[in-house]
Formats: sequence, C-alpha cells, structure tokens
Amino acid sequence: MFVQILGSAAGGGFPQWNCNCANCAGFRDGSLRATARTQSSIAISDDGVNWVLCNTSPDIRAQLQSFAPMQPGRALRDTGIGAIILMDSQIDHTTGLLMLREGCPHQVWCTDMVHEDLSSGFPLFTMLTHWNGGLEWNRIKLDQSFSVPACPSLRFTPLPLRSAAPPYSPHRFDPHPGDNIGLIVEDLNTGGKLFYAPGLGKVDAPLLEIMADSDCLLVDGTLWDDDEMQRRGAGTRTGREMGHLAQNGPGGMLEVLEQLPNQRKVLIHINNTNPILDEDSPQRAELDRRHVEVAYDGMSIVL
Ligand code: MLT
Ligand code: MN
Ligand code: ZN
Repeated sequence: MFVQILGSAAGGGFPQWNCNCANCAGFRDGSLRATARTQSSIAISDDGVNWVLCNTSPDIRAQLQSFAPMQPGRALRDTGIGAIILMDSQIDHTTGLLMLREGCPHQVWCTDMVHEDLSSGFPLFTMLTHWNGGLEWNRIKLDQSFSVPACPSLRFTPLPLRSAAPPYSPHRFDPHPGDNIGLIVEDLNTGGKLFYAPGLGKVDAPLLEIMADSDCLLVDGTLWDDDEMQRRGAGTRTGREMGHLAQNGPGGMLEVLEQLPNQRKVLIHINNTNPILDEDSPQRAELDRRHVEVAYDGMSIVL
C-alpha cells in the first residue's frame, strides 16, 4: 500500500494567512527552521496508479499538482482519484470537493452524519448536483468494512471516534457516532495495516488494541498543549473542545503512543500554533527521542 501525505497541516495550513503567532511570523521572517504545510489530506493506493483520496482540502489543486501520479494523462480529461473518503464534514476536509467540480461525478464515501451535514449546513452534495451528477454517495456503515472499486485489494474499516461536529452541523451540540471517524486500511496483498485518524479526541482501551494491531499510526497531531490556542493568543477553544487530544500532559497523545512500541508513529493535521513545527524546538527534540515522526507534505509511506 502506498500512502502519500498531500497535506499535513490542520485547518488554516502553515503558515496561516492571517496569523502572526510565533510560528507563522517566525516562518515568514526566516527566523524559524520549519516547512510550510497545506491542509489535511492523504492519498492511498494499492497499485500506485489508482488512488483513494482521504479528505479533500481547500488546497487540493496545489496538492494534486505536487504529486505526479494524480495526473496520469490517459485521456484529455483524467485524474488518479478513483474515490474520495471523508473522515468528517469539517471545512478543511471537504471544501476541496468544490475545486474538483470539473471532474464530477465523484464516488464519495462518508457516514450518514457527514452526508447529512453536507446536505444541510454545508450543502456540497446538493450544490454539486448541478455539475454532471455531482457526488455519488456511498454510505459508510459504522459496523462494516468496505472496499472501493478503484483499489480492490484495500479493505477499509471505519471507527467512530469521539470528536465534535462542525459549527454548521444541525447537531452541533448533540454529538453522534459517525460525526468523525478514523480508518483502518489493510492491504490484503501485502498485509500492511494503516491506522489513520487526523481528528482523535480520546483513546480508550479497545481503540488502543486496534492501534496496537496496526503497522503505522497516522494520528492527530493538532496541538502540543490542550490550551495552546489560548497560550499563543490565537484562539479561545481548547483541544478537548475541538475533539483533538493534545500531545503533552497526562493522558496526552505521547503517553498513548508510548504504550505502542512496535508501530511507526506519525503525527498529522498539525496546527500552525504547535511548537513541533519548529525543528529546533525542545518539543520536536522530545518527539525525536520518542521516535515519533511529524508528517510533512510529500511524505510517502509504503506498507
Ligand atoms: C478541526 O479540525 O477541529 C477543524 O478543522 C477546525 C477548523 O478548521 O475549523
Ligand atoms: Mn481540521
Ligand atoms: Zn499561526
């Protein structure tokens, strides 16, 4: 299985266009050793030709251009995107569908909850019907693995995760299973197993077991500290409120990952305020000591 990191940042990207936090300002004036990152999306393939896009970020045009297999050129109009799977209905994971309108219809896999949000509060499914049939919905059932015709040797298993529905969701303050999922992706030929969860608010014992059974963990790296947005003067909400488990502190992501000694561990969906973006920071050194990697745009993983 080929896993290509198209975008490794959280919503807003890095640097964020209107942000002057220490990271964003330091990146712009050259005083910070760090790499720019686009918004959260990965592509997965079993043959390196046909790809499943997991999440469709507002930066999708640049992301597709940066990765040649996405533009195979077998016909006048062509794409390597064979299917799209959505983890949630957040802006950073779905807005790119608008940019892909020229290629409709697209095969889109998502839960009932995500489909409802994207047919009401943020009606992408409804709007895009005006473009050659728009988005063809394939329902993700929470208790069922599924495969997609574009990559027949991959098996996808959805995992409902504790997180929050977006502000425009009709059930914003009434969380439902399926608002946010993680995925186990298995390659039935190689046996490789990926656990992907860019929004992960809580890891309980059953989930820890699932993670222990995976070869590579590509997990929520949004924040270092739960109150990081406040600390940096960049926002009012905590990681917990947003459904993101911070890395630092008791019960944090680093403690969770410490219990999983046999896996490759990679943080993704990194917010621009996170000190791990600064390659010379003590927090980044701490990750190195723990053999935890930080995803970057263009990173490839083979499983
Ligand atoms: C999230 O991951 O919590 C959201 O994408 C935040 C946002 O970009 O509004
Ligand atoms: Mn996000
Ligand atoms: Zn910033």
